Amino acid sequence: FRHLLGLEGMTPDQIEPLLDLAESYALLNRSRKVPRDVLRGRTLINLFFEDSTRTRTSFELAGKRLGADVINMSVAQSSVNKGETLLDTAATLNAMRTDLLVVRHAQSGAPALLARKVEASVVNAGDGLHEHPTQALLDALTIRRHLGTLGGLTVAICGDVAHSRVARSNIHLLTTMGSSVRLVGPPTLVPSGLGELGVDIHHRMEDGLKDADVVMMLRLQRERMSSGLVPSAREYFRFFGLDRRRLELARKNALVMHPGPMNRGVEIESSIADSDQSVIQEQVEMGVAVRMAVLDRLTRSRHTA
Ligand code: CP
Repeated sequence: FRHLLGLEGMTPDQIEPLLDLAESYALLNRSRKVPRDVLRGRTLINLFFEDSTRTRTSFELAGKRLGADVINMSVAQSSVNKGETLLDTAATLNAMRTDLLVVRHAQSGAPALLARKVEASVVNAGDGLHEHPTQALLDALTIRRHLGTLGGLTVAICGDVAHSRVARSNIHLLTTMGSSVRLVGPPTLVPSGLGELGVDIHHRMEDGLKDADVVMMLRLQRERMSSGLVPSAREYFRFFGLDRRRLELARKNALVMHPGPMNRGVEIESSIADSDQSVIQEQVEMGVAVRMAVLDRLTRSRHTA
C-alpha cells in the first residue's frame, strides 16, 4: 500500500501480516537489535496540526530506529501561522523530496487530501473524527499478544465515542477480524446512529461490560464539545467511570486498555489504570513497533511499485 489513511476497507489478509511484522519489530526493540538500514536515506516529516505525545514521539523513534532522517515540523512556528494553506505547505514539503509524511489534523480527510498532492507516502496520525489507524493497529497487536486472536472476542469501547477517531478505527479493524464491538456511554456521546457501523450500543456500563474480553476506555474530548454539553467529571465518573466493581462484570482477567491521554478519576479509576489487568503501557510500547512496521511497509511498497 502506498499510503495509510484509514483501516476501513482493509482486509484480514492485509492486517495480519502488518501485525506480524510489528510483532517482529517489538522483539527487536526489546533486544535492541533493530537493523538501522531499513529507512537509510529516507526522510520522514512529522506534520502535527494538533497536540500529541505518544503518536508523534513514537513515529519519531520508529523512523530514527530504522535509520531515517526525521524532522518534526513545529506547526506553531511554521508559515501556517502566516496564512499558508495546508496544500501549499504540502507542496513545499513535496519539493524537499520527502519520502514519508505523517499528518495529524483537526479536519477529517486532511491526510487524504494531502496524499493526492504529494509524492510522499502519507500516514494518517489522526484526522478529526475520522480515523487513527496506527492506534487501532497497536491496540490490535496488544490484544493479540495477550489473547492470541482478534476473532471471536467481545470488546467494549466505553466513553466519548462520538468524538473518537480511535474508536472508529478500532471498530473497522475489530469487526473485520471477526470480533463483536459494544459501544458504551451516554446517548450524547454514543448516539444510536453509530449502530450503522455494525456494533451494539449500550447506555449503562453494567450492560456493556458484561462478559467482555477487552474493556477499552476513552477520555472525554472536551476540546471538541460545545461548552454547554461538557459533563462534570464527578458525575461522569459516577455513571461511566471504570472502577473495580464494574470491571468485575467483564470476564476474569479482561484486558483494560486506554489509548491515552488518560484523565484519571474521570473515565478510569487510577488504581485500575495501574492494575495487573491494565495493558496501557504495553500499548505505548507496541505503538513504536507498529509504526516501524508501517514505515517499513510503505517504504518497500514505494520501491517495488
Ligand atoms: N493515543 C494518542 O493518539 O495519543 P497522543 O494524542 O498523545 O498522540
